[in-house]
Order: sequence, then structure tokens, then C-alpha cells
Amino acid sequence: MQRTVLVTGGCGFIGVNFVRLLLGGRDRWRVVNLDKLTYAGNLASLADVADSPGYHFVKGDICDQDLVGALFDRYRFDTVVHFAAESHVDRSIAGPAEFIRTNIFGTYTLLDAARKHWIEAGPPGRADSCRFLHVSTDEVFGSLGDTGYFTESTRYDPRSPYSASKASSDHLARAYYHTYGLPVLITNCSNNYGPYQFPEKLIPLIINNGLHGRDLPVYGDGGNVRDWLYVLDHCEAILRVVEQGRPGESYNIGGRNEKKNLEVVGLLCDILDRQAGLLPSGLPRRSLITFVRDRPGHDRRYAIDAGKIAEELGWSPKVTFEQGMEQTVDWYLTNRAWLAAVIDGSYQEYYRRMYGGRDELQGQGKQQ
Ligand code: NAD
Ligand code: TYD
Repeated sequence: MQRTVLVTGGCGFIGVNFVRLLLGGRDRWRVVNLDKLTYAGNLASLADVADSPGYHFVKGDICDQDLVGALFDRYRFDTVVHFAAESHVDRSIAGPAEFIRTNIFGTYTLLDAARKHWIEAGPPGRADSCRFLHVSTDEVFGSLGDTGYFTESTRYDPRSPYSASKASSDHLARAYYHTYGLPVLITNCSNNYGPYQFPEKLIPLIINNGLHGRDLPVYGDGGNVRDWLYVLDHCEAILRVVEQGRPGESYNIGGRNEKKNLEVVGLLCDILDRQAGLLPSGLPRRSLITFVRDRPGHDRRYAIDAGKIAEELGWSPKVTFEQGMEQTVDWYLTNRAWLAAVIDGSYQEYYRRMYGGRDELQGQGKQQ
């Protein structure tokens, strides 16, 4: 049976990869992508699949209650996969307000629209066939010492405005399950990497700077640890949770790929040297590594125990860290035009050029 999914933030890094995965499944999914196209949203990343049957793009804000309600009325979603968020920790330190608005109020807006349409106004039992997946992060659990892993029962202990806003949205999502019976699922995933990631995050930033022979900034002593997961493995895990997860449950997702930042940067240097050649000076890119002032409140270590999703839903990552890093560098080298448009800002012109002047509900793609 075909399902109709509202994907929020489908023009961001993970959202783009997820929309592509759904559309690759042919006619199983009718997909409505609601995205505000902030600096992190890149409509051009979906240009080649924008005409897929059953795909609709809507430019709009998840905090806009009228718009979200109208979309539920119009498309009668039975599934929501909620990615839209402000997602960069450094930006949340510089200016938390937008994180509070989008991540907390925006999540509330979506949950409440789902409650109204699936429970309040829907026929009895309607909610049983619906699913609301809230995509969250392992950063809600705070920082680990040298040992141990985050499990689904680890106490929340967020340390940055970003992680605090995501923790808040997780609590709201859980509250809607317990209070109203909304069929909510939550995933808490570790750091993703792969194609289409905005080059403010560590891996694409290092690739971009390395390509252009610029300094490679490593915060503090470079000893902070992240548990890296290839983005397509994350997308497959999300799909598995949507299709087979138990409402009211949360699932930790991670790759068992704990790496110190300095190791990650060093590996990227070596791959870039191999794939793109040494620097014009003849030096290897490791010579560009520069230690810079640490991020305030910098979490030391994240590591996920993904045992629950493995045991209950049979998911495990397919891509090793070494393969994923090779593929990622290769993707950025092959897609230099994508990277250049993001760096010079011209990607933001794409929506206006292609769809300027249309109203939000009309958006892009085929109409019903
Ligand atoms: P991203 O920053 O690349 O993309 C966010 C998308 O949301 C953009 O397309 C942006 O335009 C859109 N958006 C922002 N505010 C909006 C609003 N008010 N209304 C509608 N759209 C809006 O983020 P990402 O890295 O793809 O992350 C997606 C989700 O996954 C986030 O919720 C994030 O917390 C979570 N997550 C990310 C990671 C990671 O490593 N990137 C890991 C775990 C969880
Ligand atoms: P980031 O990609 O911002 O993800 P997050 O903060 O959500 O984990 O950063 C990953 C790690 O890399 C984090 O420990 C901070 C560090 N980092 C640097 O050392 N240099 C940089 O330029 C950036 C952006 C991050």
C-alpha cells in the first residue's frame, strides 16, 4: 500500500539522502518535502529527482501552524519524518534563538498538527496506521568519559544550546505519545558524514579547505571523539524504524566508529593527497593542520550502543569508516560545482530561478 509521508528538512544533508532513498523505492512512497530553505537547505541537491512521480516540494516554515495544518488537510499524511532543525553546534553558541524557535516550537507545531489530524479529527483507530518519526541526536545525552556508551536509557544531559533544544523536542515528542497516544518514534543518532553535507561541519569543511590549500582547523587538542556513521546507513535505519519500530520507543543509531578528531582530519588529508594529488608546494595536506581555540563546552566523547535497533529491527551499518571516507572525498571531488555553489552562495538562487513567484502550497513538482 502506498504511504504519504511529510518529510521536513528534506533539502538538508540527511533529508536529501533520505528523500533520494524513498524515491528510489519507486511508488511505495508519496513524498511531500517541507523545507524553509535556510542557509542549510539546498533545493538544487534534489534537482535530478524533482520530477519523480509522487514527489512534491513545499517551501515553508515548520513553525507556521496554518501552513502545516493546510498541508495535513491537503495531503492526508499517514507518516511524518521530521528532520528540519538548526543543526550546527557552533551556530547555536553564537546565536541560540533560532534553535529554540525551529527545534522546539517547530517540533511542537508538527506534533500538534499530527495530533489534531490523526487523533482529534481522524476516525477512531486512524492513528494506529500512522507514524511520526522524530529524528534526533546522541548529543542529548551529553559527554562521555573514556569508557561507556549511550543507551536508550542514558539520562539526558545536553550541554550546548543545540543539544538542549533537541533534548527539549525529544521530551515533547515523548509527551505526545504518553499524553495523547500519538504514534511517535524517536531516533538518536551519532555524527553523520557523506554526500551533500554543508561544509561548515568537520568532514566537508576539511575536504573543502584541503582542496584549496587552506588551514585545517582542529579545535583544542584534537582528542575529542565522535562516533561516525555514513549517512545512507542512517537513512536506512530511519526507514527501518518508520516501518517496523514500536511507537513510544526510541532507538539509538551509531556506527561503532569512534575516532578522535585528529585521526579523522589526518585520514582525510591522506585520502585527499591520494585522490587529488599533493599540494602545489609538494607538501602533504597534513602540513595544513592548525590547532585553534577550543569550542566552549566542547563535549569530549560520544559513543553509541546500537544494540537495540540491531536486535529488534535487524539493522546494522553496511559501510565501514574507511570505505565511507573514500566515497565521501570522491563525491566532493566529483561534485566540485555543488561545493563551489554552496561556498559562493549561488545555490540559494536556485529556488527563485526555478520556482520564484509561486505560492508556498503550490511549490515544485507534480500536483495531485
Ligand atoms: P541540516 O542543517 O543539513 O538541514 C536542516 C534542514 O532543515 C535544511 O534543509 C533547512 O533548510 C531545514 N530547516 C531549518 N529550519 C527550518 C524550518 N523552520 N522550517 C522548515 N525547514 C527548516 O541538518 P542535517 O544534518 O541534515 O540534520 C537533520 C536532522 O538530523 C536534524 O534534526 C539533526 O538534529 C539530526 N541529526 C543530525 C546529525 C548529523 O550528524 N548531521 C546526527 C544526528 C541527528
Ligand atoms: P561538527 O561537525 O561540528 O559536529 P558536532 O559538533 O555536532 O559533533 O564537529 C565534529 C567534531 O569536530 C567536534 O568535536 C568539533 C570538531 N571540529 C573541529 O575540530 N574543527 C572544525 O572546524 C569543526 C567544524 C569541528
